[in-house]
Amino acid sequence: MLRRLHKEQPASFAFTPANEAWAAGQISKYPEGRQASAIIPLLWRAQEQEGWLTRPAIEHIADKLGMAYIRALEVATFYFMFQLQPVGSIAHVQICGTTSCMICGAEELIAVCKELIANAPHQLSADGKFSWEEVECLGACANAPMAQIGKDYYEDLTAEKLRALIARFSNGEVPVAGPQNGRYAAEPLSGLTSLQEYEKGRKPYNASVQNAVDIGDTVKRIDGTEVPLTTPWLGKGAAKPAAGKAVAANVAKAAVAAVGKAAKAVKAVAASKTEAADAGTKPQGLSAARAGQADDLKKIEGIGPALEKLCNELGVFHFDQIAAWGEAEIAWMDSNLKGFHGRVTRDKWVAQAKLIGEIGMEAFLIRAKTNDY
Ligand code: FES
Repeated sequence: MLRRLHKEQPASFAFTPANEAWAAGQISKYPEGRQASAIIPLLWRAQEQEGWLTRPAIEHIADKLGMAYIRALEVATFYFMFQLQPVGSIAHVQICGTTSCMICGAEELIAVCKELIANAPHQLSADGKFSWEEVECLGACANAPMAQIGKDYYEDLTAEKLRALIARFSNGEVPVAGPQNGRYAAEPLSGLTSLQEYEKGRKPYNASVQNAVDIGDTVKRIDGTEVPLTTPWLGKGAAKPAAGKAVAANVAKAAVAAVGKAAKAVKAVAASKTEAADAGTKPQGLSAARAGQADDLKKIEGIGPALEKLCNELGVFHFDQIAAWGEAEIAWMDSNLKGFHGRVTRDKWVAQAKLIGEIGMEAFLIRAKTNDY
């Protein structure tokens, strides 16, 4: 498929102040001279903000990253996750038309899009709320046929189910993503025949759907005020919401002064990190592992050798120490794990450590395979 910039373009693009700070945080993750590595998250955030990717946005980001425009255009035109033309004000519906989905009914889903949205892909519906296109395999073939609507996957669809979803989106609702036929994830429709341990104590939704529900931005435009939620490495501040908001406000304020000057914005983010380093309460550590035998903290999803070493240096050697952390300790750890800001919250260390204590390592490892903790 030919992917070209839209013939009508706005005159300019600017990130919102909070998104500017978020972008600076992304850029700060890469060493000097490697800022171009931030191209995809920045393009994606520009799209999350505006709904689609404009030429001024692509050029603005290229300038920010010190890239030739053609290099940024190559990325933007290569991936069909980037919308190069205006999309529906509520959602852009991407129907997978590749083999599994085609065999299982993708053509009927496309017929629904043609009937309810517009006859041709990339055209806006009469009310401007929706647009659609057919895309290649989205990697959810076991749940065919499926569609990506906004940022999330709606799976195990039928024509009727897609109709109902579009109607609900049109009414301002955001239906829960994931399988639409009662399946939990990609297990056999008749239920599990093995590994039934997975079903015990699991959450209402699979990990991906749970994230969609928790984050709640399936079809939302992102203006960046969600910074503490989606970019924990910027510094979440104290665990209490009011303090978290204060840090976000500081980040945004710092970035207003730095618009167009990434280096200054990076400095501002660094300052906010220092502020965040004072947040919370340092967990009480041990001088050494009990009985000289530390737990293998790497069993917790998200902890690798480097993080385990950092924990040990802070006197944290055992799962039960992590399980006992409250909000204040989590906030301190999130702010003080150098190079790994926000990881305790992001990877749910405390929930994992508690689960290890409750059900034992063997059952935990089975559960961890689906991030079900
Ligand atoms: S074939 Fe549709 S998700 Fe893979």
